[in-house]
Amino acid sequence: MGSYRLGVLGGDGIGPEVTREGLKVLEAVGGRESFEYELVEYPYSGEHYLKTGELVPDSVIEEWRGLDAVLLGAIGHPEVEPGLVERSVILGLRFGLDLYVNLRPIKLYAEHLCPLKEKGPEDIDFVVVRENTEGLYSQIGGHLRKNTPDEVAIVNGIYTWKGCERACRYAFELARKLSAEREARGDGGRPARVTLVDKANAIRPHDLWTRAYEHVAREFPEVETDHAYVDACCMWMIKNPEWVDVIVTTNLFGDIITDLGAMLQGGMGIAASGNIHPGRTSMFEPIHGSAPKYAGKNVACPLGAISAVAMMLDFLGETSGARLIDEAVGELLRSGEVPSADARSGISTSQMGDMVVRRLETVEPETGN
Ligand code: IPM
Ligand code: MG
Repeated sequence: MGSYRLGVLGGDGIGPEVTREGLKVLEAVGGRESFEYELVEYPYSGEHYLKTGELVPDSVIEEWRGLDAVLLGAIGHPEVEPGLVERSVILGLRFGLDLYVNLRPIKLYAEHLCPLKEKGPEDIDFVVVRENTEGLYSQIGGHLRKNTPDEVAIVNGIYTWKGCERACRYAFELARKLSAEREARGDGGRPARVTLVDKANAIRPHDLWTRAYEHVAREFPEVETDHAYVDACCMWMIKNPEWVDVIVTTNLFGDIITDLGAMLQGGMGIAASGNIHPGRTSMFEPIHGSAPKYAGKNVACPLGAISAVAMMLDFLGETSGARLIDEAVGELLRSGEVPSADARSGISTSQMGDMVVRRLETVEPETGN
């Protein structure tokens, strides 16, 4: 029986509300699966910064390293300079804990949530492995002659062999697992494929990605390889999403294409992510932001936060607990009781959490996949 220490940062806007529902579901699954956990709450957010002037201190990042995982709601406050608290909390976690993979599943649970014509759950089921510690997010750059007509702004896109290689390796290992699962099912499914998404035609240093990808690919002969420039990737994600299994890409491109991906699965309210360093403290969050206009209204969709809890359990090795949540969310959405996964569904944040908990009581997950 596992026992875990979990950090919780509700954050700003709708963050605390959706996190509450994630924790409600965690408690329900904990009861059924009998693992134990202790929650350690942290106040860092734009709200907290406005009140106290405090951002995340280095000592807290050190403390996070001693937890098993961290759950995050959302960060961003309209009265705080854009990016200040996001860099401190979100990038503080990602960079401070070296969470080099941002894993973002794009999975359509029920056809009515998809905006594409003639595409269904069998077509939209892939994952994006977003490199999470480098690229244009490196924070290396700045301004010269700021606020003058001669201002210059520089931002550096940093790519390292190590950063590209480990992201590609994670993607290929995931695809290997997928290939093995398909073979075990024996339903004639093709081998899984890893698609490298970059812009190496215009940004030539992206050929470091090409070489790291090819280097790793040689170790995985059972996995199919594929490549798309990021602009074409956006086109394929709409036209033929069924061609994709695992995408591996840069930090910024991963940020952009996963908002597009979220819409394919029903909207920002439903998409979850894991910021992962295998074997170390990792962080799980819905991919949406703090949505200040919905804050405190009990209307935000908590399914992204709930699925982030499932991803956290999977990471912790509580795979049957993770599957239970995934099945409960899937059943609920397939039941048609939830018209949309957003603030206009007519179902409140807390009701939606309760609906998932009720499903959990009856769901019998398929085992072995
Ligand atoms: C995300 C968000 C963050 C990012 C922002 C809030 C810094 O958009 O997690 O996708 O760009 O990574
Ligand atoms: Mg984003």
